[in-house]
Amino acid sequence: MRLLFLGDIVGRSGRTAVLQRLPALRERWRLDLVVINGENSAGGFGITEAIYDELINAGCDAVTLGNHSFDQREALVFIERADRLIRPVNFPKGTPGRGAALVEARNGMRVLVVNVMGQVYMGPALDDPFRAVDAELEACPLGIAADAVIVDVHAEATSEKQAFGAFLDGRASLVVGTHTHTPTSDERILPGGTAYMSDAGMCGDYDSVLGMKKDEPLQRFLAKLPSGRFEPAEGEATLSGLAVELDGRGLASRIAPVRIGGCLSQALPEFWEQG
Ligand code: FE2
Repeated sequence: MRLLFLGDIVGRSGRTAVLQRLPALRERWRLDLVVINGENSAGGFGITEAIYDELINAGCDAVTLGNHSFDQREALVFIERADRLIRPVNFPKGTPGRGAALVEARNGMRVLVVNVMGQVYMGPALDDPFRAVDAELEACPLGIAADAVIVDVHAEATSEKQAFGAFLDGRASLVVGTHTHTPTSDERILPGGTAYMSDAGMCGDYDSVLGMKKDEPLQRFLAKLPSGRFEPAEGEATLSGLAVELDGRGLASRIAPVRIGGCLSQALPEFWEQG
């Protein structure tokens, strides 16, 4: 089974890159499942129903979220009917939406997609992320109730994400970090067979500060006061994430970074490029 995971879409530039490139990539790489973090897709903050629909129609199978899940207030309502929109599982009981969803891949396999938010240097403070994900995997174990399990760990600290990798090794197909908007070069297959990468990076314009036009973030560092609003940078986005191939047990057999377009160095999964 072939999975593509793409990191946080930031604003129009990120959305344009996904909408323009994803349909062709689906065909070229014969992808079975595509998951994208969409929590910054609406002007850098949150997601709207129109954007969610656009991503699904472009070939995305599930959209994950994070600390900005509900920045667009409409998300509190439409998330209930958006069955492939997944917010952090460790929000308090009663929060609208779902923290995990069983999604059918193009090859008919059942894939459990879980989103969770870290606690280190992150707000708002949510429930214990480890126990929350553990409960989901107990209810829907890999190889029994799910053919593959993808966990998006939306967190700031690399330590917390690496600990998640160790915690889920052999129980998840892929543990991938999001939120820092900068791809790490530590993608690997853990000893138990779980594909891992500390951060998938963003789908956004990297000639920026985390996807935002540079002036305002820089001013806030210099003056310690806001002088305006954060606005997404508008240059060409890099599509950033990773490609993972799974074996018949739902564990990883190959992994490679993906970086296409924009100003980052480019990276393609050679094992799929060769057919
Ligand atoms: Fe985030």
